[in-house]
Amino acid sequence: MTHVTQADGPTGSVTARVPAKVNLQLSVGPLGEDGYHDVVTVYHAVSLFDEVTVTAAQRTSVAVTGEGGPAVPLGPANLAVRAAVALARATGRRGKGSGGVRIEIRKRIPVAAGLAGGSADAAAALVACNELWRTGLSTSQLAEVGTRIGSDVPFALTGGTAVGLGRGERLTTALVSGTYHWVLAFGATGLSTPDVYAACDRLRAARRGKDGQPPAIAEPQLSTGLMAALRSGDPAAVGPLLSNDLQPAALSLQPLLRRALQAGKEHGALGAIVSGSGPTCAFLAKNAAAARDLAVAVTGAGVCRAVVQVSGPAPGASVVEPGAVA
Ligand code: C5P
Repeated sequence: MTHVTQADGPTGSVTARVPAKVNLQLSVGPLGEDGYHDVVTVYHAVSLFDEVTVTAAQRTSVAVTGEGGPAVPLGPANLAVRAAVALARATGRRGKGSGGVRIEIRKRIPVAAGLAGGSADAAAALVACNELWRTGLSTSQLAEVGTRIGSDVPFALTGGTAVGLGRGERLTTALVSGTYHWVLAFGATGLSTPDVYAACDRLRAARRGKDGQPPAIAEPQLSTGLMAALRSGDPAAVGPLLSNDLQPAALSLQPLLRRALQAGKEHGALGAIVSGSGPTCAFLAKNAAAARDLAVAVTGAGVCRAVVQVSGPAPGASVVEPGAVA
């Protein structure tokens, strides 16, 4: 759900906050002709947020501070810029001299980490510009604009826990009880999503069945066991059912991730998984206290760059009241 509050005037600024995601299930089908893979995924938004402030301006520009900021492109390739331009175009503002916007992104979600930080910033830019320009699009209309920018943009707009089909953009809210406590371990270097999908295709092509040919890739199916465990609200039931078809590919590109996953398991994680295309590892804990202990232990193991403790499900992109921004 997107919450929209009053901005401080048509020439003022609007700030939106947007969560990172982990994938509780990521099942990947064969490569399609459009260069994308059909997926069945269970998205789960967690309490690690980027903030995006937009201010009316003659020309569109972007500045990025915080976690991994220098790695984020500052030109038209920036996903928040692309989102603002796409919204201006979709709502007829482009070319009227009124579609310019200064975009400031404060990052806490690491870049190229498998946490959908780029899609998150695009979603926040859509929500903030929608408010700044009073364009009044609904969340599903914003998702339609955003889906062309990144497969994870629609989910970043809605948040919570949701099943994603197609490229991940066809969403259905999942029934989930309780709060889940996670430890996220960040890798020293990022992984590019297309590279990880390509590695997944290569690994699959190298497999051999009894006939000496690569076995056919099954159509991805939603895990009914995982959905039942999420309804029950029991993290001990959810942990062993976490799954990610991209994990072998991410591990093939960054073999040291195995040590991070192992460290999490050894220190009591109920589930340990690479998030999305990686390299972030997500560890599920029994409760907040167990997550604190796990975070300390994984930090001590020295197998990752940084560790944070988060919880989910978190709400999707929403406008922040002026003065409420941390
Ligand atoms: O949609 P997004 O820009 O995040 O996707 C980045 C890349 O990841 C795509 O260009 C494609 O190579 C790969 N991808 C894929 N199948 C998906 C989503 C992404 O192959 N369902």
